[in-house]
Amino acid sequence: MYKEHISVLLNECEEYLLHKPDLDYLDITFGGGGHYFSFLESGKIKSALGLDQDIEAYNNGKKKIEASKFSDIANIKHINFGSFVKDNTLKFDSILGDIGVSSHHFDSDERGFSFKREADLDMRMNTTEGEKASDVLNSLKENELADMFYHYGEERLSRKIAARIVEKRRENKIIKTSELEEICFLAYPKHMRHKKPHPATRVFQALRIYVNDELNILEQSIPGLLDALKPGGRLGLISFHSLEDRIVKHSFRKAYQNDQDKYAILTKRPLIATDEEVSKNPRSRSAKLRVIEKK
Ligand SMILES: C[S@@+](CC[C@H](N)C(=O)[O-])C[C@H]1O[C@@H](n2cnc3c(N)ncnc32)[C@H](O)[C@@H]1O
Repeated sequence: MYKEHISVLLNECEEYLLHKPDLDYLDITFGGGGHYFSFLESGKIKSALGLDQDIEAYNNGKKKIEASKFSDIANIKHINFGSFVKDNTLKFDSILGDIGVSSHHFDSDERGFSFKREADLDMRMNTTEGEKASDVLNSLKENELADMFYHYGEERLSRKIAARIVEKRRENKIIKTSELEEICFLAYPKHMRHKKPHPATRVFQALRIYVNDELNILEQSIPGLLDALKPGGRLGLISFHSLEDRIVKHSFRKAYQNDQDKYAILTKRPLIATDEEVSKNPRSRSAKLRVIEKK
């Protein structure tokens, strides 16, 4: 069963990306298809292609598309958008990326994305290839682990946590979410252990980003996504933490600075969720949408 995912910044995405009729639309992060089907319902879509590297999202999406009234104009591919842009020759009027993991991942009892659920530490969005989080934890050198927690999690106790991991794994491999959660918890001084965010939050985020190579793929894909825009086409990217948003902001600015006649940044500041949206969906609190247009 694909777990429900509430789409973030849906109104803002529609306002910026459904900017004309007869759109060829690409959704590079299909997920539960929330944005994708809302866009289709607008009546402004001529064709809709969805991508997702997660096989469960893909299978669920394929079924939903086939059962929908849009089956003749809608399509989905099981692919990483980083690979897609390398060979892509198609052009689109609207491209949306809602980067990162879905609630389906966090709420899954098997995938190991959340320290709130006991599971094997896997964390791969594409479960058909690549190293699991537990492989990474049990093989990287202490300084590599510390650097990962620091750079991808902005974790200030990165060295202490890495040292504890190396000490623990000498006895037994670290396999379960609860084992990693406990290591992080005990690495924090007593007076900080019960503060928010939970001591394991940043380490889990860092491991997930590392396992899925999220930041490199995002950065390397943006030029290809811009190439895939038709004249007058728009690219909107939603990010969920400062590391991603920085990449989107700098990549858009670079494209604009390299060719000011070709690009316009439509969001001088990122669009964020209204108080009303945050109260209904707390996950939207950290979402930021930036949109660029090709002239
Ligand atoms: C936040 S969810 C998207 C939710 C969707 N917009 C909705 O409203 O239902 C992100 C999805 O993108 C997928 N994803 C993340 N990075 C990807 C990548 N590099 N290539 C393809 N899919 C990716 C994840 O597997 C996940 O299903």
